[in-house]
Amino acid sequence: MERRPLIAGNWKMHLNVADSVSLAAAVAAGSRDLGDRDVMIAPAFTALAAVAEVLKGSSVFLAAQNVAWEREGAYTGEISPAMLMDVGASMAIIGHSERRHIFGEDNEMVNRRLLGALNSGLVPILCVGETLDEREEGETFKVLEQQVCEGLEGVPGDRLPSLVLAYEPVWAIGTGKTASREQAQEAHSFIRDVLADLYEKNLAGQVRILYGGSVKPENVDALMAEPDIDGALVGGAALKAESFDRIMHFS
Ligand code: PGA
Repeated sequence: MERRPLIAGNWKMHLNVADSVSLAAAVAAGSRDLGDRDVMIAPAFTALAAVAEVLKGSSVFLAAQNVAWEREGAYTGEISPAMLMDVGASMAIIGHSERRHIFGEDNEMVNRRLLGALNSGLVPILCVGETLDEREEGETFKVLEQQVCEGLEGVPGDRLPSLVLAYEPVWAIGTGKTASREQAQEAHSFIRDVLADLYEKNLAGQVRILYGGSVKPENVDALMAEPDIDGALVGGAALKAESFDRIMHFS
């Protein structure tokens, strides 16, 4: 099963509008020669509209870092899928570990966000991953299974291939400590098995599963060589044009 690689930059709460626009312009220019893979960036909400302008005419996808589940209403501080699409976003990161662990989002809320995005036509990137304690207690697979099953509750099989998943071990995010390619591959293949059990093997084989957690120019090639790693969700190294460019050009 051929899956088109996706290299995604998660800018988190960094960069003002002007800096976002120049980084986005560099990504758009750098990705012009990449015909065999997808590239996505997720700026802060405040920069989405300006970045969308810069990306016009490029093939770089624009994503939000989170999304509400309702179309509109009394939800102070939230942004709806329709609003994101209105400014040019086509994807949304959902259930990032920082949302789960700093802001208390649980699987049920993550699932609502995911269904809201999917039903509005935004491509969700569902993030899952275990903490260091969970890994050390031997609970990695249990946690991943629960996050995948509860996160995808109510998603019909025919929608599955349009979703993206991201395996991001919490202990590897922003720590400089990357999962080894074997650890990452093991988790990715486990997640694909969970999808095959929930749906069917053929559908599970079409879903892109990204790895995230200290992806850098130095480790991207090895990670991408693993059979079930279909891309990268990059935080720190996505904030510098040069390092993200090298990651986009993984071989
Ligand atoms: P990092 O972040 O690359 O800085 O570890 C990845 C992420 O949180 O998506």
